[in-house]
Amino acid sequence: MTNEEITRLLKKAYSDEIETVMNYLTNSIVLEGVSAEEVKESLETDIQEELGHAEQLGNRLKQLDERPPASYDFEARQESLQPPEDSTDVLSVINGVLDAEEDAIETYRDLVDAATDGDDPVTEDLAVTILSDEEAHRTEFRGFRREYQD
Ligand SMILES: [Fe+2]
Ligand SMILES: [Fe+2]
Repeated sequence: MTNEEITRLLKKAYSDEIETVMNYLTNSIVLEGVSAEEVKESLETDIQEELGHAEQLGNRLKQLDERPPASYDFEARQESLQPPEDSTDVLSVINGVLDAEEDAIETYRDLVDAATDGDDPVTEDLAVTILSDEEAHRTEFRGFRREYQD
């Protein structure tokens, strides 16, 4: 039963990473203006990291004799990360990123717990490693938000 929860969370995390890649990529292209440059650059770096997370999660699923989901299984959830009407509205993107990172942090915390309960130290280790990346992303974008709110 616990192993089902591990699989469910691995698949959810995989889908979320793919949706994050799509929305970070779109926002990094759509945003414009002098003040957007730093955020765009940061998004471009994070896209590669999030894609790397998806790859690691997909490979872990394979090791567990499962398959990562593909687009027909996909359900979009990141409403606040849709690109803003105003392409210079950097704060809207920053807030969307923070929502996505908070959501990811919650998922990886759940995965750590499920892997601990299910005695799966390999998945646990992976979840802890990715969790620390997501916390670093959150810290970076909290810094951006502080700048934009002043
Ligand atoms: Fe990620
Ligand atoms: Fe992230």
